[in-house]
Amino acid sequence: MELQQTHTSFRQQADPAAALQAFCKENFSTEPLLVRAAGRINLIGEHTDYNNGFVLPAAIDKAIYLGITKRADRQLQFHALDLDDHYSGSLDNLQPSPRHWPDYLLGVVQQLIQRGYQIGGFECAFGGNIPQGAGLSSSAALECAVLFALNNLFELNIAMMDMARIAQAAENNFVGVRCGIMDQFASIFGKRQHLIKLDCSSLEHEYIPFRFDDISLVLLDTQVKHSLASSEYNTRRAECERGVALVRQHHPEVSSLRQVSMDMLDAYVKPEHDVTYNRCRYVVEEIARLQDACKDLLRDDLAAFGQRMFATHEGLDKLYDVSCKELNWLAEMASGASGVLGARMMGGGFGGCTINVVQKDAVNNFIEKAAYGYQQQFNVPLKAYVTSIEDGCRLI
Ligand code: GLA
Repeated sequence: MELQQTHTSFRQQADPAAALQAFCKENFSTEPLLVRAAGRINLIGEHTDYNNGFVLPAAIDKAIYLGITKRADRQLQFHALDLDDHYSGSLDNLQPSPRHWPDYLLGVVQQLIQRGYQIGGFECAFGGNIPQGAGLSSSAALECAVLFALNNLFELNIAMMDMARIAQAAENNFVGVRCGIMDQFASIFGKRQHLIKLDCSSLEHEYIPFRFDDISLVLLDTQVKHSLASSEYNTRRAECERGVALVRQHHPEVSSLRQVSMDMLDAYVKPEHDVTYNRCRYVVEEIARLQDACKDLLRDDLAAFGQRMFATHEGLDKLYDVSCKELNWLAEMASGASGVLGARMMGGGFGGCTINVVQKDAVNNFIEKAAYGYQQQFNVPLKAYVTSIEDGCRLI
């Protein structure tokens, strides 16, 4: 779900797009096509996408930049500028790489071939400023970047909705994480100053404006990168499926937690298995919580919205069990900080960032207080990003 960072020289560039352009000019024999694909935040609706529920993500100001050019043969050449690493391969032999990062690109290539799209060999270079391992979906951004680029380069005419599905399938089938569609959808469909309310069952979506002059979105990065995150993620999915299977014995029409009520859980899951019950309870509550949170937003009631974010954190920690002590400390600290309306852990969990809805005039104090306390508590310098909501994938 995240690329691992080992080298920082490209990342430290003030203007990654310009740095990429310079690299391509020097190393590619023809003019490249350049793409920007954003990372994402999610305001509320966590671990609901693969349960056919709702999510409320947005694309952000941090992105992967990718330059691409055709080759005359069937070779693939990738340059990961952040990692200072290179990959060479062929369209005719797509195998997962021990270095892992090429898999995000190879997975997309494999999906395109399997679906009958005609592509030839290509060379690409990429890098960006999405903090790694922070739960901001750098991997989905990379999948979307290469897919968006190939769609343009080879004039494949793929609809945006299919692009989201293809990028998700690349991660599911080639990388091996059974993620839902939220990250890829947000990276492609993101719209400046808007959240996307996405129904992950029908993929119907609506844009909800999020522009408040006096509010900032602050991400506090624990810098904890839990190595079990991917396997635990797949375990959570399996636990949700187990809950659905128990309900289905009595209601064969039910195929996901989206269709399950608390009464059903109490009747059919609770007596069977406590842990499964807790997981499913969190998801059923979170799907309902998101609906209420959207109503808060439409009334401009950010105070009520923020309270629901705290409730989500509580559920992710106590029932879904995907938080960690660093995330809990940050969420707890935020709940007592002045000017903070809402906060919670964000993304898959086990590390990464909290997302905080903060009054603009309180942001500096809040970050200072959080950084000081975090250092005292964990002896780690906290990283903080004030982020903005921007457009999704586009050519640059
Ligand atoms: C990761 C996955 C998403 C989603 C979130 C949790 O980011 O890639 O599909 O499930 O975790 O909400």
